[in-house]
Amino acid sequence: MFITLEGIEGSGKTTQIRTIGQWMTAAGRDCLTTREPGGTPIGGQIRSVLLHPDNGDLAPAAELLLYVADRVQHLETVVRPALAAGRVVVCDRYFDATMVYQGYARGLDREMIRRLHQLACKALMPDLTLLLDLDPEAGLARAWRRIRTDALHAQESRFEKERLAFHQRVRAGYLDLARREPQRFAIIDAAGDRHTVGAQIEAALEAHFEGNASSQRPNGK
Ligand code: TMP
Repeated sequence: MFITLEGIEGSGKTTQIRTIGQWMTAAGRDCLTTREPGGTPIGGQIRSVLLHPDNGDLAPAAELLLYVADRVQHLETVVRPALAAGRVVVCDRYFDATMVYQGYARGLDREMIRRLHQLACKALMPDLTLLLDLDPEAGLARAWRRIRTDALHAQESRFEKERLAFHQRVRAGYLDLARREPQRFAIIDAAGDRHTVGAQIEAALEAHFEGNASSQRPNGK
């Protein structure tokens, strides 16, 4: 099973993915948590190019191709082998992030992005996507607090430097994708504290696993 976490900057994905990993292990599921960009050693190098604040003039199409390159490396060496071994893979960002950041927010053609996903990644899609939805002003305030106090985050602040309007397009893009595919997306209100958000995530995971188990029973019950 392939589960992804999506959301704007500062929506709390990194905190929540840790909790999800613990929840899965406690439920007896063999779970791998990973992320994009940067879920492999080569992806880590691609990530530093993509997120370094000095790389403001990276051309949008080059940006897109670097995210896709990171994804191909991640799928080939980490995600597909884990799925083939029957593990649950939980990934912090995936293809929806490309649709939203490079498509809805940067303005690249979304049909072209889909075709690229088909070509490079055989269009592998998640079974469930947890969208941590939050007002961009609140998310950016959280993200900037982190950047000011943590040198590592300061090295990865290229997207936080984008204008508020960019982040508003990101949020609207995610909500549009969720509206188009309601069976895949679970929208989580990320405005609360981490326990409140964690409880909503747990409920969405339980509903998903329960739904899957009943659809596999012969009479569907
Ligand atoms: P992170 O902060 O969640 O680690 O994500 C890194 C940044 O990369 C974040 O600002 C979103 C952006 N991003 C894209 O623009 N396109 C993508 O395909 C992915 C996976 C991330």
